[in-house]
Amino acid sequence: MSPMYQAPRGTQDILPDDQPYWRMVRDKVEELARRYGYAWIETPMFEATDLFVRGVGDVTDIVEKEMYTFRDKGDNSLTLRPEGTAPICRAYVQHGLRNRPQPVKLCAWLSAFRFAAPQTGRLREFHQFDCEAIGDMDPALDAELIDILWHLYTELGLSAIAVVLNSIGHPAPNCRPTYVQALLAYYTPREAMLCRECQARLHRNPLRLLDCKEPGCQPIADAAPRSVDYLCEECAAHFADVRHWLETFGVPYQVSHRLVRGLDYYTKTVFEVMPAREGAQSTLGGGGRYDGLIEELGGPPTPGVGFATGIERIILNLKEQGIPPPAVGRPDAYIAHPKPEQRGDAVRLLGQLRAAGISAVLTPPDKSLKAQLRHANNLNARTALVIGEDEVRDGSVQVKFLDEHRNEVVPQAEVAARLVDQAVNPP
Ligand code: HAM
Repeated sequence: MSPMYQAPRGTQDILPDDQPYWRMVRDKVEELARRYGYAWIETPMFEATDLFVRGVGDVTDIVEKEMYTFRDKGDNSLTLRPEGTAPICRAYVQHGLRNRPQPVKLCAWLSAFRFAAPQTGRLREFHQFDCEAIGDMDPALDAELIDILWHLYTELGLSAIAVVLNSIGHPAPNCRPTYVQALLAYYTPREAMLCRECQARLHRNPLRLLDCKEPGCQPIADAAPRSVDYLCEECAAHFADVRHWLETFGVPYQVSHRLVRGLDYYTKTVFEVMPAREGAQSTLGGGGRYDGLIEELGGPPTPGVGFATGIERIILNLKEQGIPPPAVGRPDAYIAHPKPEQRGDAVRLLGQLRAAGISAVLTPPDKSLKAQLRHANNLNARTALVIGEDEVRDGSVQVKFLDEHRNEVVPQAEVAARLVDQAVNPP
């Protein structure tokens, strides 16, 4: 017997029943990209491994534990993208996009791959909507990106969401080293009280101790030095401006000194959006500024800021909050014909309707008229077009408007115009 295959652990099929949710989110992000002036970009699903090691950072969970890395037949080390920012910055450098007017505002809908323990809201293959504004230091851009996320969630109907903001300053030679020293001075005497993960991270990536979720580490992290108290003049002014612009845009937010993010490229602003339901895997979206990333990838010094939001997590929250997607894929016309003799007229009508831009489906001829009409109802068709013996003889069609429970007899040649006239899902 052949084996029963299953989708790989941590991946999922997106079946037709779930597609309306995907369409709903996709339509909203396309509308927002247009409203905010972001152009679409697509990059390959895999890249040179080194791009992520350098870009995301070699002491991050992503690079240490989660990458799908393989050697191809040419012995190149490649990695399925775990995120979209490093590839988009690579494309910006490779294609000389700095010669365009800055900032270059780009957005993408992408699948990403991380080998993490699967659970609700955490997959090994997942999807992101990603926005990046590259080539400008303006703090209003940081606020604009947060504003896009805020509008995305609230316009989809999500409520009880919170924007969390922080600034982690500049890496060397500015404020970050002083802050990291302060963190080390604070944490080192407390090392024995920390969880094993924090002990391992203390000297490799002390910032990450702040977002530890272990209960024992919470009070220690809460009382730790705050990055905002160590910002240099420039970073402090930038942070004040981001806050000013958020207030101008009317986006509510709270500052949390424990927000540090899990990728190494961030400078200055970092942010996340959390849903009502708290939990380790609940973050709806996050991002921040990455003013050193493009240089790290071999380009000229170029600032950038962006975010990504998980599509599966948005949909999880839409379902939890009972927000239904609009009905999609509703056929305009279902052509019913009880006998094989009527099939010629039925197929001709099908062609006329589709040519006129009307969505139409035809049943297999081996069902009773009653069964066909039941099928039309199950598909939620707007109309059922019945071609029986009388209709073939007269060259007509019985049009059943299924929502309104009324019938009309219309000449076959006029059905397409009639359906468009009635504004049934007009093309
Ligand atoms: P990230 O925080 O790693 O940031 O991911 C962004 C979002 O992707 C998360 O908030 C979450 O909604 C979703 N996500 C991440 N991992 C998973 C997973 N395993 N399963 C399901 N959803 C997941 C980035 O990826 C950065 N590139 C964001 C960015 C863009 N920063 C600047 N520009």
